[in-house]
Amino acid sequence: MKLKKILCALTAALMAMSLLAGCGGEKKAADSEAKNEMKVLRAAASVDFAPFEFQDETKKEYQGFDMDLIRAVGKEMGVKVEISNITFDGLIPALEAGNIDVIISGMTINDTRKKKVLFSDPYYESGLTMVVTAGNDTIKTFKDLEGKKIAVQIGTTSASECRKIKDAQVIELDTPSICFMELKAGNVDAVVNDRPVNDYFISQGFDGVKTLPERLTAEDYGIAINKNNPELQKKVNAALKKLKDNGEYKKIFDKWFAAKKG
Ligand code: ARG
Repeated sequence: MKLKKILCALTAALMAMSLLAGCGGEKKAADSEAKNEMKVLRAAASVDFAPFEFQDETKKEYQGFDMDLIRAVGKEMGVKVEISNITFDGLIPALEAGNIDVIISGMTINDTRKKKVLFSDPYYESGLTMVVTAGNDTIKTFKDLEGKKIAVQIGTTSASECRKIKDAQVIELDTPSICFMELKAGNVDAVVNDRPVNDYFISQGFDGVKTLPERLTAEDYGIAINKNNPELQKKVNAALKKLKDNGEYKKIFDKWFAAKKG
C-alpha cells in the first residue's frame, strides 16, 4: 500500500518534471520568436545584371559579386541565405510587403528609395555610362543624347536620369540584355546602364558595340532593408564591416573585378 503511494507520487513528480521541461523548451522557442531571431535571411535580386547577379547554366546557384557578398553576410550573421529572383521594379514592393528581408541587386542608394526602405552602408561604387554601336561617331557625350532614343532597364536610376535629357525618348525594358539586343538591332541609339555591367557585357564578347568613357553619375550600391527593421540594418552593417576588416570582402571583390581590369 505504502509502496503504491510512493510509486504514485514518484510518477506524478516525474510527469510534472517532464511537463516543466517541455514548457521550458516551448518557452525558449517563444522567446526567440519574440526577439525575432531569424534563421533564414530571405534575399532577392533581379538576376540579370552580370557580374553582380546572373545565372550560369552550368551552375545551380545564382552567381556574382552580390550573390557571394550576401551569402558571406548571412554566414557572419549565422543565418541561412535564400535568394529569389524578382524583376527589378518589383523588388521594393516585395520588400515593403514583407515577402523578403533584404534586396541585394546592384541597387543605388538614393533619396527617392530612402523614403521607402533602409539602406546598409555602401558596398560598391558605381555610376552610369552609355553604350552605342561600334560605328557610331555622332554620339560621344551624354549631351549628344538629346532628342535620341535610349534604352534603359525599367525602374532603374538610368531610367530616371535619362528622363532628364532634353527631348530624349526613353524606352524602359525588362533587362539590360534586352536593351543591348535592341541597340544591336538598330531600334535605339544608345543604352544607358551601370558602368561595371556595361564593361562586363563587352568583355564577354558582345561585339558590334562600344562603351563611352563619360560617366553620367557616381552612385553607391547598398543592401535595402524593410523600413520597420532597423535591427536588421544594424546586423547587416556589422556583418559588412566584419567582412571588410577580415579581408573576405576583398577576396569576393577580386574574384569578380580585379582579374578583369586592364
Ligand atoms: N544601379 C541601378 C539602380 O539602382 C541599376 C540596378 C539594376 N540591378 C539589377 N540587378 N538589374 O537603379
